[in-house]
Amino acid sequence: MPLKILVGTQWGDEGKGRIVDLLSAQSDIVARYNGGDNAGHTVTVGDHTFKLHLIPSGIIHPHTMGILGNGLVINPKSLISEMEMLRETGIEVSPDRLKISFAAHLITPGHITLDRAREATLGKGLIGTTGRGIGPAYTDKVSRKGLRLVDMLDLPLFEEKLRLHLQKVNYDLAFYYQMAPLPEDSIVSEYVEYARQLQEYIVDTGALLDIALHEGKLVLAEGAQGMLLDIDHGSYPFVTSSNVTATGVFSGLGIGICPVENVIGATKAFQSRVGAGPFPTELDGEMAERLRGTGAKPWDEFGTTTGRPRRVGWLDGVLLRYARRINGLTDLVLTKMDVLSGLPEIKVCTAYKDKNGETFAVPPLGINHLDQYKPVFEILPGWQEDLTSVRNWDDLPENTRSYIRFVEQTSGVRVMLASVGPERSQVVEVPA
Ligand code: IMP
Repeated sequence: MPLKILVGTQWGDEGKGRIVDLLSAQSDIVARYNGGDNAGHTVTVGDHTFKLHLIPSGIIHPHTMGILGNGLVINPKSLISEMEMLRETGIEVSPDRLKISFAAHLITPGHITLDRAREATLGKGLIGTTGRGIGPAYTDKVSRKGLRLVDMLDLPLFEEKLRLHLQKVNYDLAFYYQMAPLPEDSIVSEYVEYARQLQEYIVDTGALLDIALHEGKLVLAEGAQGMLLDIDHGSYPFVTSSNVTATGVFSGLGIGICPVENVIGATKAFQSRVGAGPFPTELDGEMAERLRGTGAKPWDEFGTTTGRPRRVGWLDGVLLRYARRINGLTDLVLTKMDVLSGLPEIKVCTAYKDKNGETFAVPPLGINHLDQYKPVFEILPGWQEDLTSVRNWDDLPENTRSYIRFVEQTSGVRVMLASVGPERSQVVEVPA
């Protein structure tokens, strides 16, 4: 069973990049199946910190092939600059090592401008998007008027389609937002140049993955964002526009249902969220600042894509149980355990209470109406020891081990690994 799936169980930023990096050591292919450059995956190897938005972080390993599946929306400018950034650090990025699905959709400056214009008019209903054009690109996809990577293979037709798209965007900008038009000619020549640079990378990645899986190659499907931002199962409307959940892997990579070895949920030891939307265990004041960090370190709680400070709170066990159910999680990787060191006590939300005092282990309508619940906390003793140099389960403080076991009990999923720092080696295997 060569397919493993890694999915974020919260609102993104669970530390998936470094877990992908770890799991890639045993993978032949790492494939992204959703989202675009709204994602931000940080991986620290030695002195180097990589911040990747599109290319699967597995590419850092010399033996791994990276795939961008059909479920993605791709900004070619970001992709090309990421390819160049990786090459500058000595990582080979060639058509042999990176494959892009012909059926993935393109993000244009039109989508980005519309994303920002829409947000500016939403007032209290603001989603707090990353402003990367994700929503408008997926809107065009489901409206059946999107531009796809395959269009880049026929330049005259591509130019024609791109012009039509830009004319439509300019009409919307003028009519709905009273904004100046985007310059059609310069965008077209820029995108034709991107097409020339990307053509060699565009293939049928679904067919390639099908062969690889039948040959027994190890494939890791890498989710972007977190499942609470899923368009169908997330905290709608404060969500992204793609299927983030593990089940999105099959449609987002263009493969049939096949056996899956593990569905691994990346879970931060506390909760965080960027953008708007309900957050039952949210903290403010000193404790929030303590969990967020100052922003001085690349792994502090500031958005990799936007630089925005993340909202933070205690771990929400109710949402974790929900993530188990929707994704069929088999294992968890608990990240950022080191950040909890030094706290006198640590809270974990185990249930919700509504305004009538009724308690829910799982709310009746999934995660709708999250703003109507108050968290019910279990209070666990903290630990004072620094965990960053611990590598063995037995060397973890007793209260750290109890915290991990409590997370297993609350979520109903075993924890396979706990991370105690941003470096590749800073992990502790958790015995069953
Ligand atoms: P969009 O994906 O840019 O449309 O943003 C929709 C919502 O998802 C906003 O709340 C964003 O902050 C959030 N979001 C999108 N991508 C990420 C991510 O990779 N990590 C965390 N939040 C994200």
